[in-house]
Amino acid sequence: MIVTTKKLFEAAYGKYAIGAYNINNLEQAMGLFQGNIDSQAPFIIQISKGSRSYTNKLMLEGIIRAADEVFPESIFAVHLDHGDEATCMDCIKSGFYSSVMIDASSEPYEKNIETTKRVVDAAHAKGIVVEAELGQLGGVEEHVNVSEDNAKLTNPDQAKDFVERSGCDSLAVAIGTSHGAFKFQGSQSLHFDVLSQIQKNLPGFPLVMHGSSSVPQEEVERINAAGGKLLGAKGVDASQFRQAAQLGVTKINIDTDGRLVWTRVHREYFLEHPEGFDLRAPGKIFMAEYAKFIAQKNDYLGSAGHL
Ligand code: G3H
Ligand code: 13P
Ligand code: NA
Ligand code: ZN
Repeated sequence: MIVTTKKLFEAAYGKYAIGAYNINNLEQAMGLFQGNIDSQAPFIIQISKGSRSYTNKLMLEGIIRAADEVFPESIFAVHLDHGDEATCMDCIKSGFYSSVMIDASSEPYEKNIETTKRVVDAAHAKGIVVEAELGQLGGVEEHVNVSEDNAKLTNPDQAKDFVERSGCDSLAVAIGTSHGAFKFQGSQSLHFDVLSQIQKNLPGFPLVMHGSSSVPQEEVERINAAGGKLLGAKGVDASQFRQAAQLGVTKINIDTDGRLVWTRVHREYFLEHPEGFDLRAPGKIFMAEYAKFIAQKNDYLGSAGHL
């Protein structure tokens, strides 16, 4: 059942984080729903601008509506990930999305507030909630490319001012994570000092952590052993999710890890079956492996068992 993002946040705040998983196709949708049912977890489906054009936004909507019927027990929200203003408005108009993210974090501060506020006004008029972003993650986003060196952590005092003036319903904060498979040079931990300052300034307000894939080394090694070339890939330590959840992180975004599962399954399959060409054979393995991955991730998030 599709529910409001607000309702998921109210149940989770301070206790656990909801997994927000990006999807682009049917196989990811099937694995995602199955894994959340297996682990009895509520979840958020994230759709990026790139996903809406790759799959065609109507195809994607059809897949999700069908999955809702195939898995009637499921409890989830549908969310636009990293929207620009025009994409946010299109999603708000469509009536399909529970929430949208406006990412104007690469704009100057005042402009970020103005743009966010315009989206908030349009969204709230339709009962849709809005995630905004303040600060800059390292790594690559769709329309933003920030190097790790220039990554700017969220300023806790600005965060309070930003939320009050923009009217956003949740805030993506930069506390040391970054997008993609190559997050850090050395080892790095989340900046819990910054996070706890933000929570102190915004008590009870849902915070969001992007760039939270773990990039498991075993997965990377298997991909490379099967012909891949992911050198120096590194991610976030998932055992820190629960501490983040206690400090107000209510939504944790994961995309890259799912792509790694897809890559490993398909590379290994075709290495072992050089004669193979039935796409359903690796597709079936992927759906099962992705479901397993989602269920494990929900354990780390603490969302497992909260259906
Ligand atoms: O943060 C970006 C997400 O991982 C979505 O990626 O824009 O390539 O679909 P995408
Ligand atoms: P990862 O690249 O770490 O999976 O982050 C995904 C994300 O933040 C989507 O918005
Ligand atoms: Na950003
Ligand atoms: Zn993101």
